Amino acid sequence: MVAEEGTHLITRRCFLGQAGALATGLLLTETAAGAMVHEAAAAGAEVLGEGVLAPFVDALPLPPIAKSTGTRANPEKSGEQIPYYRVAMREMRVKVHRDLPPTRVWGFNDSSPGPVFETRSGEPLLVEWANELPVKHFLPIDYTLDGAGKNVPEVRSVIHLHGGRTGPESDGYPEDWYVPGKSAVAFYPNRQDATALFYHDHAMGINRLNIYAGLQGMFLIRDAVEDALNLPSGRYEVPLLICDRYLRKDGQLEYPVSAIPGKPWVPEVFGNVVMVNGKVMPYLEVEPRKYRLRIVNGSNGRFYRLSFGDGREFHVIGSDQGLLESPVPLRRLQLSPAERADVIVDFSGLAGQRIVLGSDSMQIMQFRVAAHGAQDTSALPTKLRTVERIAETAAVKTRLLTLDEHLNLADQSMDMMLNNTPWHMPVTEKPVLDTTEIWEFVSLTEDAHPIHLHLVRFQILDRRRIDTNAFFDDRTLAFMGDVEPAEAVEAGWKDTVRVDPGTLTRIIVPFHGYTGRYVWHCHILEHEDNEMMRPYEVIAAPSRI
Ligand code: C2O
Ligand code: CU
Ligand code: CU
Repeated sequence: MVAEEGTHLITRRCFLGQAGALATGLLLTETAAGAMVHEAAAAGAEVLGEGVLAPFVDALPLPPIAKSTGTRANPEKSGEQIPYYRVAMREMRVKVHRDLPPTRVWGFNDSSPGPVFETRSGEPLLVEWANELPVKHFLPIDYTLDGAGKNVPEVRSVIHLHGGRTGPESDGYPEDWYVPGKSAVAFYPNRQDATALFYHDHAMGINRLNIYAGLQGMFLIRDAVEDALNLPSGRYEVPLLICDRYLRKDGQLEYPVSAIPGKPWVPEVFGNVVMVNGKVMPYLEVEPRKYRLRIVNGSNGRFYRLSFGDGREFHVIGSDQGLLESPVPLRRLQLSPAERADVIVDFSGLAGQRIVLGSDSMQIMQFRVAAHGAQDTSALPTKLRTVERIAETAAVKTRLLTLDEHLNLADQSMDMMLNNTPWHMPVTEKPVLDTTEIWEFVSLTEDAHPIHLHLVRFQILDRRRIDTNAFFDDRTLAFMGDVEPAEAVEAGWKDTVRVDPGTLTRIIVPFHGYTGRYVWHCHILEHEDNEMMRPYEVIAAPSRI
């Protein structure tokens, strides 16, 4: 069985942005964001040209494993002690490439991206996220954005564990930010299946800048189901946090600004380099055997279509919220911002050779396969686990929610919204705890949007093209194509779903875990920071009399 690669709908802006991002400044001026990049470059911040940096000259860094700093009382169980970690957000300078001077970034402890948490399902832990950042931001704040005005301190942060089933007080609500010198302790119960989560900043109105600066890292959960599979492990399992950045000639991060005076926000940012675990186009020495790659798309706005240089087949064994039912063979894998992929690749036929992982024409990293290696005793099982499909009849409610973009008279994007409702309006989505709902997203914009819900995991039902004009007229859903079921690699548990332009995308969501206030949003960080985020609230079932 070979899974279909699936038709990828690229929008005008996405296409230009992605095609032009690694090319010359001239091409970049043709993109919506690129025009502004050019302005910034003209103002003296000279951006790195194409092909300036030699590829594959730095070894892939492996972030350190987070170490607990002691134990504390389990807030859920008196008398029990659980691991306690203190992790500090700090500014640091790191070499992102052999030929560049150190780059100012933000990270955790002394690593950017931050340390990898190795945790087990059912084993809770506490993390004190300490803000030890400077009080001045080094990236261009837009003071007109909701929550980022001059009335609040410039540097604020709050950490969210993406994909975690976490109580509301520990979930990193965007308005729960705190300033340098302060910290917050989060409780992660880890009552969920094995998967790769990631933690990142979520501060209202500046989240895109804080993450761009480097405030993200991976968080792995293991469980007995995974243990029993004998997948490649130890040094044969490699975390790959991929993100693109815009670098200047002096090696410093450039964050593009708009041409609109006083409103520097841009609708998308595409970098001129791709970094993996904080290095530009690194290489990794591997043995001729199977490897397990834990991939996170940590980019602000870039979608990847990952493939190997020789077009070889690999197997996707898991997505956002854990293992699929069985491995899906693919030659090209699409990954939206915040999506994760658990991939098995076999280098055994490649002894002594080098192979590049890329995305379309971009090079991401290189694998250098040794002539020999230890014997490979790991497995790629044909059956991974059971993923029960949720019946649509299980849903007690269906919500139709639009994705909207607002342009000014000059056709410049002013903001994006969910259901045309700004962030500060009262909560409109209030699912009842332990019920299941269908959320239908109608995309009325020209971009693909990765939509993420906190707290929950969900399943993708299907996508279907619609006539957006008909919808604009009188909210009728006029279908223009067939129902497309979720692709095989998306058929497991997810927490982020790609909503293509001009489509109706449906997900089915069991709301388990906690009551309380959470958020759902687009994970293109520029969108999220400019109104494409809404609170939602899980409420207790009304008591029956
Ligand atoms: Cu990756 Cu609101 O999160
Ligand atoms: Cu999240
Ligand atoms: Cu979006």
